[in-house]
Amino acid sequence: MSANLMDAMALTEFSRRREKLLQAMQANSICLIPAAHLVSRSRDTDYPFRQDSYFHYLSGFPEPQAWLVLSNQVHVTGVKRKNSTGLSILFCLDKDEQAEIWHGRRIGPRQAQRQFAMDRAFPLDELDEELLHLVDGHDHVYYAQGCHAEADELVLGILQALRDAPKQSHHAPASLHDVRVILDEMRLFKSPFEVNLMRHAALISAEAHCRAMRCVAPGKNEYQLEAELHYVFAKHGAKSPAYCSIVAGGKNACILHYTNNDQVLNAEDLLLIDAGCEWQGYAADITRTFPVSGRFSEAQQLLYQIVLDAQLAAIALVKPGATFKQIGDAATKVLTQGLIKLGILTGSLQANLDNQSYRAFFMHGIGHWLGLDVHDVGRYKEADNDRPLQAGMVLTIEPGLYIDENTRVAAKWWKTGIRIEDNILVTEAGHEVLTIAVPKDIDEIHALMADVMCSN
Ligand code: GLY
Ligand code: MN
Ligand code: MN
Repeated sequence: MSANLMDAMALTEFSRRREKLLQAMQANSICLIPAAHLVSRSRDTDYPFRQDSYFHYLSGFPEPQAWLVLSNQVHVTGVKRKNSTGLSILFCLDKDEQAEIWHGRRIGPRQAQRQFAMDRAFPLDELDEELLHLVDGHDHVYYAQGCHAEADELVLGILQALRDAPKQSHHAPASLHDVRVILDEMRLFKSPFEVNLMRHAALISAEAHCRAMRCVAPGKNEYQLEAELHYVFAKHGAKSPAYCSIVAGGKNACILHYTNNDQVLNAEDLLLIDAGCEWQGYAADITRTFPVSGRFSEAQQLLYQIVLDAQLAAIALVKPGATFKQIGDAATKVLTQGLIKLGILTGSLQANLDNQSYRAFFMHGIGHWLGLDVHDVGRYKEADNDRPLQAGMVLTIEPGLYIDENTRVAAKWWKTGIRIEDNILVTEAGHEVLTIAVPKDIDEIHALMADVMCSN
């Protein structure tokens, strides 16, 4: 697909989302969405910029220090509207020759209006004054309070200024709504456009995992494998991992969010890698666990097969109408049965399920929503009930078993952390595993690892 066609599709997608939000808001509402800010890393150096997920979702505009303003008021004076539902207005940094020499090119309001299909774009310098005019006369403000202190101060200041202004000439909105209530629900259901982006993120990430399997060797450091993963991400234009990669050898894999990634790998250990790239804002989130030596030991094989069986049982249930609870329960049952069979747990299946003894070895949830954020937005419950899955949702399924050293079980099981995680799209017919391209069967892993790729 040509870049231009892709851009046109993306523009249509962003416009469609704004349209949907404008329709979902109450009549005579205005919505205010700030972009992310640059964050200082150390003197004169910032962290790599990452756009705010909501701002990106609605605009596609890639720069920091911008605001998106949407209004469904019937008449906002002075702005010609492109569609009947409402107005899209962007505030962004103005062109500035000197600043651009130092910090990079800016799109600027004039080009941004055309390129991002806005009804109007203003320079950021005019934000305070224009925003006051724009908010004036609306009945409702939709805004995500509590994310950025400076943005809160601006929005609440404008509301107060309008409340304090003469009533004959100004009309302060009476209510402030959390825009996330609408946006989170929209983001939970992925469009075909989004699914394609997520497929691509999954494909790049799958290649990275396969490379890591073929490059691992005893004596290498965890960070060398991290470098192999990130090399593949970057090679394909995915400039950032979607989250801090976890490259955890042996007992390090028992630390669920291990990110030090700085230990030497031992031949007798398993290596757990939880890593995924971000592609055009969308995350992949894949975990595989494999032997540093290329061959699972007998004990490792027994534990690994339990986790794999649990994951397969859970994935098999993913279809419209199923719940996270049903899926999690299926996995937990297989894990618990397996632990009893190996003598790691004792007693009946039901007794172990009832007293949750398995929690000592599987202490996290079965999965989460996936999208622009790796732990994506969206409610998990409806009222007090578990929410049934619906087509278009994307979730992870990631059971695991973790047995640290000195746990009260036979020493042969120690220093072992195993997790297997895939990304699953719920379809009308059931599901599609987006991350199918990374092997997880023991024989397939052995075969792939026999095909060594890197010599050092
Ligand atoms: N990588 C974070 C998670 O699996 O939830
Ligand atoms: Mn995950
Ligand atoms: Mn993960």
